[in-house]
Amino acid sequence: MSTSRPARIPQHVAIIMDGNGRWAKQRGMPRLEGHRRGVETVRTVVDTARELGIRYLTLYAFSAENWKRPGEEVSGLMGLLDFFLKRELNNLIKEKVRLRTIGRIEALPENVRRELDRVKAATQHFTEWNLVLALNYGAQTEAVDAARAYAEAVRDGRENPAEASWEKFRRYLYTAEIPEPDLLIRTSGELRLSNFLMLQLAYAELVFTPTLWPDFGRADLVAACEEYARRERRYGATTEQIQTGRA
Ligand code: IPE
Ligand code: IPE
Ligand code: MG
Repeated sequence: MSTSRPARIPQHVAIIMDGNGRWAKQRGMPRLEGHRRGVETVRTVVDTARELGIRYLTLYAFSAENWKRPGEEVSGLMGLLDFFLKRELNNLIKEKVRLRTIGRIEALPENVRRELDRVKAATQHFTEWNLVLALNYGAQTEAVDAARAYAEAVRDGRENPAEASWEKFRRYLYTAEIPEPDLLIRTSGELRLSNFLMLQLAYAELVFTPTLWPDFGRADLVAACEEYARRERRYGATTEQIQTGRA
């Protein structure tokens, strides 16, 4: 196991955890077994993120489109989420990790919502480490929800459209209290965003790996952070401006 630490650590890493189904299929196992192994990867990645100094870890756990899957798989995933939250409550408290969620949580099964509320309440005073679960999340739905909330604020005289800016508008996103991701990782070789954090990823560095999520480990997260550390983030400026600190 490598003990090295990449030079520049991203403050916020977002991950599209993909490939559980293919992992199971390759082994002749039911898809749910892949999801079960995926939960173990989550534990490893939460540990590694803290060890590396990544303050925000956002995991795409269930998309707004994943309801399309067979009923049995959807209920299996909800069951695993419930299991994960019950199992992790004490760990998250011990490790001082705050659990947050993004997405339309109200549509999740009641038992899951109850567990989420319980873990969020028990960890809400922690500030250093944040685990953000994207659940029933879709970036397009988030944009619509934000636009609605912004429109209501205009109607009530709390916002003036003439003064609209990204800094003001972002406060209406689910991620209002969360900084933009620095690094996005997607596992399983798919090269798309699948409706994940489309506005917040505007200047994120993207790393795609063929590794399937159940096989993703500490070394893979370290490697992604090393790749991130090698990138030059220019935000529209020039290399020269970045290097002389004049951007
Ligand atoms: C990711 O793995 C987990 C969820 C989307 C919940 P998949 O279930 O999408 O795995 P593949 O893409 O079918 O291999
Ligand atoms: C994205 O993966 C959603 C999550 C990882 C939760 P999908 O497997 O649902 O994405 P598509 O359908 O291949 O784009
Ligand atoms: Mg998939």
